[in-house]
Amino acid sequence: MASGRSDFKRKSSSQYLLQCRNATILFVGVPQCSDECADYNVSTKVFWGCRIVYLMIKHPPTRLALQHFDATYSGQLGKIWPSVRVALLSERKYGALLNHFSNHNVLEDLQSQGCSDFISYRDEEGRCFCPQHPVFRVSTRRHLCGLLSHYLMDAASVLPCLALDVQEGHNVLDLCAAPGGKTLALLQTQSISFLCVNDASVSRTMRLRKVLNSYVPKEFLTNEKLRITSFDGTQWGDIERNTFDRVLVDVPCTTDRHSLMEDDNNIFSKNRIGERRRLPQLQAELLLAGIQAACPGGEILYSTCTLSQSQNQSVVEQAVFVVSLRPLTQMFQNTFYFAPDLRLGEMVLPHLTSNFGPIYMCKLRRLT
Ligand SMILES: C[S@@+](CC[C@H](N)C(=O)[O-])C[C@H]1O[C@@H](n2cnc3c(N)ncnc32)[C@H](O)[C@@H]1O
Repeated sequence: MASGRSDFKRKSSSQYLLQCRNATILFVGVPQCSDECADYNVSTKVFWGCRIVYLMIKHPPTRLALQHFDATYSGQLGKIWPSVRVALLSERKYGALLNHFSNHNVLEDLQSQGCSDFISYRDEEGRCFCPQHPVFRVSTRRHLCGLLSHYLMDAASVLPCLALDVQEGHNVLDLCAAPGGKTLALLQTQSISFLCVNDASVSRTMRLRKVLNSYVPKEFLTNEKLRITSFDGTQWGDIERNTFDRVLVDVPCTTDRHSLMEDDNNIFSKNRIGERRRLPQLQAELLLAGIQAACPGGEILYSTCTLSQSQNQSVVEQAVFVVSLRPLTQMFQNTFYFAPDLRLGEMVLPHLTSNFGPIYMCKLRRLT
């Protein structure tokens, strides 16, 4: 087995060339991670006269993420960290957000799998079904109208949308909206008068557009009702101030579950260290831009899918007035496992008995 810094070159998305000492260029398979700065262990095998080269990443980003989480979350969460850790490393549960715009009836299928609706208390529009078991297979169906029946997402992701508490006639901004799960949840209420969905990434905005076209009727996607933009959200204060009744600021973060499970596109990759370190600054700038975009008396919901205090409470501490979400968490205490005694905001903790999250959320009110 050879070992050393990678000196392979990407030829295409599935082909890599490895330059060896004797100048032989070998065709190799896809490494397990897109981190081209990573160190690899290289091993070769001869099979039917062909030399096959295996690249094994030495420090997979998933392992670096786990080391980082062990170091920070054990202090932050204390004695509950071991059980949260096991849950994070186990198969997550999904919830099915029913698409109320599609008339496809998947209710029976969902109920036959033991799924129950956890938001029906509110109205018939915003139904989200949670399974009893992690394994949950009800494929999305396309109704005759062309729209899909339901959207699979972490059920805890619906909470920030409920907490935003959109009322009839509201103007709403979803500042970091792609791929669009929360946008869809917001649209299900049908209360919104005007929705602006934005994401800085052009490719992710295209994905968002596709999601909206698959779930929302064309008459709701007109310029009068919906605007899709691809601006840097931190600049929103220069674009449109004092405008929106509700602003959702669902910021980029270390996406803890993804970072533990997928080496590809992982923020703990060595070539993304700078980006990861800059996250709290970016998050604070996005939150401040969201606050500027809200009209006086408007409300802002900040959310992440990380357990990290420096990306959650520390970012929010810069905001002025924090609205209590205790009534909401009490309502859902049988469905989600909420972190006890959080100083600011609320957090759904992954737990083996209810393996959703992590979702952090904090509701702010602009005073002037
Ligand atoms: C956590 S994801 C949003 C998930 C989305 N709200 C949903 O429910 O599907 C964060 C998003 O922020 C976007 N983003 C990153 N930097 C941004 C910026 N400066 N302005 C606006 N969006 C940004 C990323 O492209 C990413 O799509």
